[in-house]
Amino acid sequence: MDPPCFFTFKPFLHQCVFVFIIILFTLAYQTDSDNSKFEACEPKTCGSNLTIRYPFWISGEQESYCGSPNFEITCNDQKPVLNISYEDYIIKDIFYENSSLRLAYSAADENLCPTPLYNLTLTRTPFNFVPGDTDLFFWYNCSDKPPENGTYSISCGNEYSHYYSFAAFHKEMLVNYSLESCQYSVYAPLNVETGANWFQMNYNEILKIGFVLNWTALSCSNCEASGGRCGFDNSEFLCFCKDKTHHKTCDDGNFTGSVFISFVSSVNVLDY
Ligand SMILES: *[C@@H]1O[C@H](CO)[C@@H](O)[C@H](O)[C@H]1NC(C)=O
Ligand SMILES: *[C@@H]1O[C@H](CO)[C@@H](O)[C@H](O)[C@H]1NC(C)=O
Ligand SMILES: *[C@@H]1O[C@H](CO)[C@@H](O)[C@H](O)[C@H]1NC(C)=O
Ligand SMILES: *[C@@H]1O[C@H](CO)[C@@H](O)[C@H](O)[C@H]1NC(C)=O
Ligand SMILES: *[C@@H]1O[C@H](CO)[C@@H](O)[C@H](O)[C@H]1NC(C)=O
Ligand SMILES: *[C@@H]1O[C@H](CO)[C@@H](O)[C@H](O)[C@H]1NC(C)=O
Ligand SMILES: *[C@@H]1O[C@H](CO)[C@@H](O)[C@H](O)[C@H]1NC(C)=O
Ligand SMILES: *[C@@H]1O[C@H](CO)[C@@H](O)[C@H](O)[C@H]1NC(C)=O
Ligand SMILES: *[C@@H]1O[C@H](CO)[C@@H](O)[C@H](O)[C@H]1NC(C)=O
Repeated sequence: MDPPCFFTFKPFLHQCVFVFIIILFTLAYQTDSDNSKFEACEPKTCGSNLTIRYPFWISGEQESYCGSPNFEITCNDQKPVLNISYEDYIIKDIFYENSSLRLAYSAADENLCPTPLYNLTLTRTPFNFVPGDTDLFFWYNCSDKPPENGTYSISCGNEYSHYYSFAAFHKEMLVNYSLESCQYSVYAPLNVETGANWFQMNYNEILKIGFVLNWTALSCSNCEASGGRCGFDNSEFLCFCKDKTHHKTCDDGNFTGSVFISFVSSVNVLDY
């Protein structure tokens, strides 16, 4: 009986606005359902007091959509482990405020006579070295005896081998030494305070201090500041909030706000 809302006259206005409000509230109610992804992406701890949250996620304990694929952490014996270029690293600390983290060779952390066998390459990872990172060089299976000053001997139970393996901070320490007599060499990153007396520590203790990398990821600070938790859906960055999933922050696309605005503008347009 009634004409369609858009062609109505003033006497029917209240009826029309009422219909609009019903429609809008129905929409609002449907999208305001509980957000299970917000619950699923609750920050977790692994071991001590290290909080794991976006862009990191713990495989097996958190959903992969709570972080970025390259930031997958495994929680091994209460220790957070990150696998970069074939090597396991223990996460010693995460600094979310400046997007960086401190890592150490997991074998060093467990005092298992660490022998890094790969150069850490960060190509095709979201990680980068930072100023202050330096290298500890490793030479393995050398036929010439290295100088004692400035080198760390690595025996790992092979004391009676006729080969020598050792680590050193500077190649300059090895003047007159033939590095060609070694079968294999690797450099391991380190980020240590200058001034300490490194020669009084063994190389395992030094490796345990670790090194720092920064990372590149879409920032979550605005979403977090609005009470949300970041994640992905089909590689689209999203902000999971208590009420529903938003695009950037929990305040964007405020549905109550838009209901109010459309209500006011429809009344205004029809009134004049
Ligand atoms: C974790 O807590 C312990 C004691 O509660 C403290 O000694 C340690 O420094 C903390 N570690 C970090 C990374 O904050
Ligand atoms: C790390 O990567 C290496 C090489 O792919 C693999 O052997 C090792 O099991 C990985 N470690 C973890 C904890 O995934
Ligand atoms: C980030 O801050 C921490 C703690 O203040 C610091 O140890 C770390 O070196 C910083 N990272 C970078 C990349 O500057
Ligand atoms: C050193 O030599 C031993 C015995 O020949 C071999 O098993 C080992 O893999 C070598 N290590 C490296 C790092 O080349
Ligand atoms: C070891 O090297 C340092 C610096 O190169 C030097 O000052 C020191 O005298 C050396 N020690 C020995 C015992 O040769
Ligand atoms: C290295 O060899 C040169 C020439 O044999 C010698 O003059 C120099 O003193 C040596 N340097 C060291 C640190 O042994
Ligand atoms: C690591 O890098 C050094 C310097 O580039 C190179 O001499 C060495 O062969 C590399 N080691 C491995 C295992 O790739
Ligand atoms: C990481 O550190 C490097 C070296 O200082 C810098 O060029 C890069 O911009 C940093 N990346 C991030 C995301 O902070
Ligand atoms: C969104 O709604 C909340 C309350 O529901 C309000 O506090 C906030 O100011 C609104 N934000 C915008 C941008 O309208």
